[in-house]
Amino acid sequence: MKIKDDKFLEENLTRINKALFQTLPKKDISKVTEAIHYSVMNGGKRIRPQIILILSEVLNVDISNENVDLIAAAGELIHCYSLIHDDLPAMDDDDYRRGQLSCHRKFDEATAILTGDAIQPLSLEVLTSIEDPNLSDKTKLEIINLFARACGPEGMVEGQNRDILSENKKLTEEELDQIHYLKTGKLIEACVLCVCLIKKNIDETLIEKLIEFSNKFGLAFQIRDDILDEIGDQDKIGKPTKSDIKNNKSTYPSIMGIEESQKKAQLLIDKALAILQELPFETSKLEFLCQLIINRKS
Ligand code: IPE
Ligand code: IPE
Ligand code: MG
Ligand code: MG
Ligand code: MG
Repeated sequence: MKIKDDKFLEENLTRINKALFQTLPKKDISKVTEAIHYSVMNGGKRIRPQIILILSEVLNVDISNENVDLIAAAGELIHCYSLIHDDLPAMDDDDYRRGQLSCHRKFDEATAILTGDAIQPLSLEVLTSIEDPNLSDKTKLEIINLFARACGPEGMVEGQNRDILSENKKLTEEELDQIHYLKTGKLIEACVLCVCLIKKNIDETLIEKLIEFSNKFGLAFQIRDDILDEIGDQDKIGKPTKSDIKNNKSTYPSIMGIEESQKKAQLLIDKALAILQELPFETSKLEFLCQLIINRKS
């Protein structure tokens, strides 16, 4: 079956945004809670939770849709927190995010730090609160452990650390692949793996194929992000272009140029699509997602 339009993405998006809103504290408690709403309920492609919803559907997991949505919201919250800190002056120093002032520019730096600090444990709190007859406490703990490792000192934080240390240096392609895996790929991988954890009696080889899929997809996603930083339209991407150049970052375009970077991203997506062909279930929605991210303008 070939999926022709993005109707399913819109339907998923409604579920994702509803679940996200449910997880947030009331907006009017403090400046931090106001900033949490500002930084979470503000658009965003919601690619990570989309992966969780699509995969849960095609693998036909046993837990309820509402609980799938909460797990997806938790994954997106981690991402939202990472963006707030990524934009801070000590990091990428960017003034815009998702088409609006970045959190520290709308509020102030202390509020942005605290907002990120608050969203991160909130995501874990959401996961601990999920109650489902088909989700054991052990599996819940495994999911929490998975997300904690994906964003922790050997995950996204280390990717961000190496990204900062790479400024004014020329990295090898392998070093850059590793940074991209740590800062972006691991969370995407966790979104795939959490569904594998929920699915009872899932085949080990299927898990391995899904990990491989997520790694190709994640790297292609970040390469396209690097490309859009150079040639994207600020109004479409909703964040400043030329930020990586300003910070003299090592990015794909900086080490191999735009054309080669896009070729590499396309090759990765072709490989991801080939993996999908081997899977014993309906993969058209995941294929659609692959096509979407490789050609994306935002
Ligand atoms: C931006 O992520 C940061 C990266 C890891 C590339 P997205 O491109 O998913 O940003 P939003 O969530 O749609 O704003
Ligand atoms: C950010 O990579 C990755 C994380 C937030 C973990 P970038 O710094 O390239 O993301 P953008 O371009 O600011 O969205
Ligand atoms: Mg960055
Ligand atoms: Mg950045
Ligand atoms: Mg970028």
